[in-house]
Amino acid sequence: MPLSVVPVAEPTSGKTPRAPSPRKNALWCLAALLVGVTGICAWALAFPSQVPATVGEIVEDLTGANPNPVTLQRPAAVKLSAVAELGKKLFFDPTLSASGRQSCASCHSPGNAFGPPNKLSVQLGGPHMTLEGYRPPPSLMYLYRQPNFSIGPDAGEADVAPDLAQLASQAASTQKARKNAGAVPATPAMVPQGGLFWDGRVDTLQAQASVPMLNPVEMANTNMDDVSDKLQRTSYKGDFLKLFGPNIFRSKDLAISEAMFAIARYQVEEQSFHPYSSKYDYWLEGKARLSQAELHGLRLFNDPNKGNCAGCHLCKASADALPPMFTDYQYEALGVPRNNKLAANRNPGFFDMGICGPFRIDLKGQTQYCGMFLTPTLRNVATRHAFFHNGVYGSLAARRT
Ligand code: HEC
Ligand code: HEC
Repeated sequence: MPLSVVPVAEPTSGKTPRAPSPRKNALWCLAALLVGVTGICAWALAFPSQVPATVGEIVEDLTGANPNPVTLQRPAAVKLSAVAELGKKLFFDPTLSASGRQSCASCHSPGNAFGPPNKLSVQLGGPHMTLEGYRPPPSLMYLYRQPNFSIGPDAGEADVAPDLAQLASQAASTQKARKNAGAVPATPAMVPQGGLFWDGRVDTLQAQASVPMLNPVEMANTNMDDVSDKLQRTSYKGDFLKLFGPNIFRSKDLAISEAMFAIARYQVEEQSFHPYSSKYDYWLEGKARLSQAELHGLRLFNDPNKGNCAGCHLCKASADALPPMFTDYQYEALGVPRNNKLAANRNPGFFDMGICGPFRIDLKGQTQYCGMFLTPTLRNVATRHAFFHNGVYGSLAARRT
């Protein structure tokens, strides 16, 4: 039926107004609809965080932006304390090694996320820099958040250190739950977790620092006296005297303990050890967009039926907005193949079994933990060239055949 338009006011001119044709009317409606839809789309693309969750995934697909951004909690930048400044000098000082050519930074290079600066599976060290290590050096970033080694849910917070072997025996009978990305396990895991090194044999950064100083295939000092003598010969010996008093070198133990404390403070205070400046961090905050390939990878990473990587390499911010660490700090026996290129493995009797030895000795008898290694963080993993506890893989794309 044709539309009849009744004029509501008297025409002022002599012209009779013409009724708009039905076609024109429909066109106007269409144009208005188009403008509306384009407007809403543009708004959704510009502010993906504002759209309702149901359309969030569509927006994520279209834009690569995180539809549910969070504001991450980063540690405040602080000026290094005098002790941390001393720690920095120690960290970069090759005169503290037997060879005179190796410092902490040689294997933990600031230019490589405080990991190894070369493509070797393991690093060389020792008095003449000719001896091979056993494991690839991990990145030293973000270790201020590493929990102490424990077995079971809360042992790490106990006032008195628990008897680990006893705990291990108790936990031996509990079934290990399958880990699913995104799902919180129904029962707390009675599994080994936390600690430093691939086998968690040391808890604090201070205790850790003296290990490479004495390791015969690393900085290779003969004993602690040797380290203390080297400390007294440093060009910054005066810093020790100023900070810890004129008698500091009278007690070798005390001097070494302060030096190791200083190295730990450097790693805790120096901002570049924990910047949380990856593209993923910015994506979580809604400040960066992922490419289609990255988005696809993230979904595979999170899908419990596909990669399920996030089952262990946790990738969501915590409830209090701490950035994700890409590890649940737990131990797993993944059965990584033997790396036959390692010098240590020329000995057919040598097996690196992680928690149950040979480098860790307190849980040797706990055979249920043999072959277990700490789940490493995947932060900055693309800057590395040797992967897993024995460096058997040389690229992220390598896969088992
Ligand atoms: C020759 C190479 C080398 C040198 C030099 C070296 N490290 Fe390491 N670092 C390693 C290796 C290899 C590991 C892993 C060892 C293991 O798991 O048993 C490691 C592990 C660590 C860890 C534990 C990291 C983690 O994620 O668990 C810290 C912390 C560390 N080193 C700090 C230092 C400090 C501080 C110095 C200097 C005093 C130093 N390293 C010197 C090779 C080296
Ligand atoms: C059951 C827990 C678990 C799951 C699931 C898991 N990982 Fe791991 N990942 C580990 C452990 C443990 C290691 C170290 C094992 C070793 O060295 O023996 C590791 C090592 C790695 C490394 C080597 C890192 C380095 O610095 O050497 C990469 C890369 C990695 N995982 C990526 C992934 C990806 C990608 C997925 C999903 C396809 C995935 N992981 C799933 C536990 C897990």
